[in-house]
Amino acid sequence: MWAKFSLSSEDMHLTTEVNVFYFRVMNDWVNAFEQKGWIELRDFLPLDSSQGLLEEMKLVQSKEDFHRASIGKDGDKHINLSQRGDFISWIDPINAMPYTSKYIVEISHIISILNRQFYLGIRDYECHYAHYPIGAFYKRHSDRHAKGSSRVVSSVFYLNADWQEGDGGELVIYDGESNASLIKPQLGSLILFLSEIEHEVLPTHRERKSITGWMLNETIL
Ligand code: OGA
Ligand code: MN
Repeated sequence: MWAKFSLSSEDMHLTTEVNVFYFRVMNDWVNAFEQKGWIELRDFLPLDSSQGLLEEMKLVQSKEDFHRASIGKDGDKHINLSQRGDFISWIDPINAMPYTSKYIVEISHIISILNRQFYLGIRDYECHYAHYPIGAFYKRHSDRHAKGSSRVVSSVFYLNADWQEGDGGELVIYDGESNASLIKPQLGSLILFLSEIEHEVLPTHRERKSITGWMLNETIL
């Protein structure tokens, strides 16, 4: 159903009927996002696009273009293995590979909707491929750095086919005093959440891959 949402602007000549459906579905997620501050969009992309993204990430991995992720900002930036154990590779949108470029275009459509609906003032987007080896996790945290942050909405697109119960690696979103929601890092799922919301990645029992990004209310220098 969500494949409908990933229509590119060239596809917009499709019939009004399709567009009506498209906007109804869109309203559903916008309403849910407004209420909860986060949303899971399953099958955000058609399967071949998700698989294409996975292949592109594997290519970057084969070039050993990944490094250990750090925590903190600017002068405070440091690697802390007791906090997070993933490896990342930043994506340069200008030189991104084809499926990755297309993904960024889809995200830009989401940004337009979020800005239009909630006046979030999102002006830029940064993202990286992320790889969690077996046993890696990311302890509870918020994506807004303590010393001011331009991160408004976080996005994670998962690249793991057939994620099973028991594979671990769930994203936990702490969306209330006593509420925690568990999300499987299933191929094709996109998660959007307000960057201030606390969340964590549980220890993974399988290699776990994703594209993680942040919608920013400032432009990147
Ligand atoms: C992050 C993060 C969540 C995930 O990279 O900041 O919280 O599910 N990732 O990978
Ligand atoms: Mn995070």
